[in-house]
Amino acid sequence: MLGIIGGSGLYDVEGLKIIEEVSVSTPFGDPSDKYILAEYKGKKAVFLPRHGKGHKYPPHLINYRANIWGFRKLGVNKILSISAVGGINPLLKPGDFVISDQFIDFTKSRVSTFYEGILSKEDDTDFQDEVKQFLKDKRVVHIDVTNPFCPHMRSLIKDICEEKGYRHHTKGCYVATEGPRLETSAEIKMLSLIGGDIVGMTLVPEIVLARELNIHFASVNIVTNLAAGISQHNLTSEEVIDMMKEKTEDIKHLILEFIDK
Ligand code: HPA
Repeated sequence: MLGIIGGSGLYDVEGLKIIEEVSVSTPFGDPSDKYILAEYKGKKAVFLPRHGKGHKYPPHLINYRANIWGFRKLGVNKILSISAVGGINPLLKPGDFVISDQFIDFTKSRVSTFYEGILSKEDDTDFQDEVKQFLKDKRVVHIDVTNPFCPHMRSLIKDICEEKGYRHHTKGCYVATEGPRLETSAEIKMLSLIGGDIVGMTLVPEIVLARELNIHFASVNIVTNLAAGISQHNLTSEEVIDMMKEKTEDIKHLILEFIDK
């Protein structure tokens, strides 16, 4: 089944039938919100608002492990992520869609693995059994992320963007920053020099955790603003929110088409 992680309200779209809202408990605590099970043309998908209802969790405080574990519990084997990013590459314009193919991680304070070594006896609860069952004897694991994004999902997104005539870029390197503050112009200059095309605060550890659970992952990144120092003015949250609002209908249609593919 397909999982979709993005803003709240993306499932409020004509043609998509909401089946039920499900609370999922995980050994890692609570996911950002209830999962919304939906159906389109006979195909099921499950939605989760990354920041919770009312945008209550900032990027550095999202319980990424709970969110991804919850998807797995519901039987999700591929995740389509929708996220807002700043544009670093001069070819990018606000409103463009970027189907990222690489990432660079500049996050600092996030737990970004399910593989935490040997669990102590004190942790022997039912929930830990759920984790142990998954870990078996694999306590220390280094997953391969040479090409972290699913090429098949990326190609489907590209086809949809072409069919719909959305301005898009078929690859791009996403730099993940810690936030919640935006970047300095010096930071963006550095990120540009090392090959970053877009900058955002949520891809890592989301994608890493999904890959640890063998969940395919692709991300549609909406350029909401030019990054710090590239933009002619200081950045505001309103700029990001306004562009996401402007693109909501396009994103919803992209999601519907993706479910149907
Ligand atoms: N930087 C980091 N995250 C973002 C930005 C940005 O400029 N825009 C939207 N999310």
